[in-house]
This record gives sequence, C-alpha cells and structure tokens, in this order.
Amino acid sequence: MQIIKTVKEVQDISRWFRGECKSIGLVPTMGALHEGHLSLVRRSIGENDRTIVSIFVNPAQFGPNEDLQKYPRDTEGDLSKLSELQADVVFMPETEEMYPEGFSTSIDIGPIGKLLCGASRPGHFNAVATVVAKFLNIAIPHRMYLGQKDFQQTVVIKKMARELNFDTNIIVSPTVRENDGLAMSSRNAYLSGEERKASSILYKALKLGQEIIMSNGLDDLSAVKKEMEALIRSEPLAKIDYVKVVDPYNLEPVQRVLFAAVICVAVRIGNTRLIDNIIIEKN
Ligand code: PAF
Repeated sequence: MQIIKTVKEVQDISRWFRGECKSIGLVPTMGALHEGHLSLVRRSIGENDRTIVSIFVNPAQFGPNEDLQKYPRDTEGDLSKLSELQADVVFMPETEEMYPEGFSTSIDIGPIGKLLCGASRPGHFNAVATVVAKFLNIAIPHRMYLGQKDFQQTVVIKKMARELNFDTNIIVSPTVRENDGLAMSSRNAYLSGEERKASSILYKALKLGQEIIMSNGLDDLSAVKKEMEALIRSEPLAKIDYVKVVDPYNLEPVQRVLFAAVICVAVRIGNTRLIDNIIIEKN
C-alpha cells in the first residue's frame, strides 16, 4: 500500500493505472475509519483493479463554530485498517497541498445545498462539492464510493459530477449500523455512554415513519412526522433539528409518497449532531 501526500504523485499513479487498463475505485474519507468506511473500501476493492482511499479532514466544509479542531483523527489506526484490507493507495494531503496560498475557486451547487442540513450549515455543501471535484481530478477514478448515511451529500455530489461532466460512476452503498440501529459515523466517538444509548432513537423514529407509511396508508405525511417527532422527544437527551420526508432526487419536501421518498432526520444528542435517513419505496 502506497501512502502519498502530493496531488502530482496521485495523478501520476492514476494515469499509470489507466495506461495499464486498470479500473480505479476512489473512497473519499475524512479518516477515523469505521466499519461504514471499510465496507466502501471492500466494495471498491471487489469492483475495481485498484483502490485509492483519500483521508483529508477538509477544513473548508466546517463552519466557524463547528468541530474541525476536535474532529476525530486516527492516522495510525486508519493506515493499519487499510493495509489489512489491501487498499492500493492512500492519499493523505496536508491542507496546503489541497488549498495552496491564494486558493479561491469554489463550486456553487445551488439551492439544493441550502435544504436540510444546508439550512444550519451554510456553505458546507459547496465546500464538499469543491473538494470532491478536486479528488475526482486527482484520482481520476472510474468509480467513487459514498455511504448513504450522508444522503444529502450523495445527492449533491451526484449532481455536481453530472453537471460538470465527470466521467466517474458514483456508487452509494447502504448505511452500516450498530446493533441497536445507530448509523456508524466518526462523530459517534463524541457520545458519552448515556448519549450513546439515547442515540438509537434516530433509527427507531425512522423505522416508525417507514412502518406508518408502508402500512398503508397514512398518506398524511405531516401526521407521520408528528408521530416521529413525538417519539424522538420521548428521549430526554434528544433535541430535534429536523424531521423531513423529501424527494430522493431534489430533496424538496413531499406531501405524499407516490413511488419513493426519503425520511431524513437530524437530531442533537447532547452536543453531538447526528443525521440519518431511510429510503421508502412503494410499488
Ligand atoms: O463524507 C465525508 O467524509 C466528506 O464529506 C468527504 C466526502 C470525504 C468530503 O470531504
């Protein structure tokens, strides 16, 4: 496994892979790798000749009062997990390598970046789209792997890649969960024991919403939301940021589920903001 810190070296090695007719899979991450990330790496290794994993805590996507400084970092643990899986390349740039002095370009993803999490994280999705566009130009992958847990991120990145004509297939893999349903996330490391127990309320609420919608019929989605919100509020440590049922393609709220919708939730457990979602498909 090669550990590379410069853009130029990754571009060179990717061009070389392509010259050898090797397919390339890219798994972009911010490190502190957990089973969710590792499932993406395994999938990439299974579906491509070469797998590149990027580890970069992107400062641009953190707001001024967010957790950039304390975001979990575990370089040694990450590298040992990736070498065990036999990833081919790990790209670990310094901030200056990604954003040299004077860097000022950014992608504006448009109104979709202001919905859901974008409402409380201004500029976040533009920064995600920008850094991912850079990764696509650096690793030149045939396929890129993202987790469904960050549903809005997957929609934003697919839109950016489609509209800017990146020739990469964006693959979204199912959320990996703990036994009690909590979606795996690097930020789960912030939770105290009590908060960790309380955080299973997100998945319970999503399952409740799914059951009500599937069981027929409660076509009135505002009533579904109310039931979900009441369940979340029954957990004293939980504070709702939003509970929304949205269209999977444009993330706009839907009034009723015709074919498919996504229930998205963001909830604070103590000081930690957790997000999760579930896709509802009706035949
Ligand atoms: O999901 C993440 O870890 C990040 O948002 C990503 C896609 C690596 C961009 O920094």
